[in-house]
Amino acid sequence: MNEDTKLALKLRIRRTETVARDIQSFELTPCDGRTLPAFTPGAHIKVRTPCGLIRKYSLCNSPNERDRYLIAVKRDSTGQGGSVSLVDHAVEGDILDVSEPENAFRMSRGARRFLFIAGGIGITPILSMIHSLRATDTPWQLLYLTRSVDSTPFIQDIKSLDSNGQVLIHHDGGDFEQTLDLWPWLEHPKQHQHLYCCGPRSLMEAVRDMTGHWDSGRVHFESFTDGSVVRPDDQPFLVHLARSGRTLEVSVGESILEALRSAGVVVPASCESGTCGTCRTSLLAGQVDHRDMVLLPEEQDTQIMICVSRSLNGDLTLDL
Ligand code: FES
Repeated sequence: MNEDTKLALKLRIRRTETVARDIQSFELTPCDGRTLPAFTPGAHIKVRTPCGLIRKYSLCNSPNERDRYLIAVKRDSTGQGGSVSLVDHAVEGDILDVSEPENAFRMSRGARRFLFIAGGIGITPILSMIHSLRATDTPWQLLYLTRSVDSTPFIQDIKSLDSNGQVLIHHDGGDFEQTLDLWPWLEHPKQHQHLYCCGPRSLMEAVRDMTGHWDSGRVHFESFTDGSVVRPDDQPFLVHLARSGRTLEVSVGESILEALRSAGVVVPASCESGTCGTCRTSLLAGQVDHRDMVLLPEEQDTQIMICVSRSLNGDLTLDL
């Protein structure tokens, strides 16, 4: 199935609004008035942006709502232009090609309490989770970390969801010295507590480093970027597939996973942001620039998450 056939929904932008500095929300509704496909908390949709690039956005409204999807888009001028084109060129009334919801950041059925840690636009999947908990007795707590009030999307919605003092909104003013110390919340995991974290890589790495003593099945990450993020020093490289004997080139701006797909090689994948672990592949040779949140240091010599990680230097050989 190619990407076009996956974008089966045609949704109209009913309303768009600036919800924080450089962040725009889009309320999407069916053109034909039908009920939208259901989604679960933490789900995302893929959207064809006006420039043609397909981008993934978390749904941030209540999963009980079947007449609209709500997404928020950060105008990231360092990206490849997909989100910028959506913010700059999509207007109310436009019709967008959208996929049905998928979920690589599911709430665990075994969880009896939740700790959410969100950084900036990373609040979006967590918002839908909090909406889903409102009608339950399940305890939850949110640590919401942003630079300032005006860079905090949905700040009033979040405050209105805080019925019991379970929300802490912290602004660091862009000063590292003002970073919130998360250790008091992470030092002693509570029984049946699950942690969901979404935000910038630096935040997720800090949380990962402070949760080594948690059961790994109770710590969940979601990245709001995907494998398409290009770093200034990225280079093309070759991937050798040991079992088939084929060699593929992975270009700048393309993931190994995408190069494999283009060559007709099917590999399981889900989040495509280095957080779910689905695309784990055995590495037989080569030096990897690991960009995922999944692999343990002791796994990094023999495993690679092909949706985000690249060659550090030279060719890679995979057990495919
Ligand atoms: Fe989720 Fe690669 S598809 S880590």
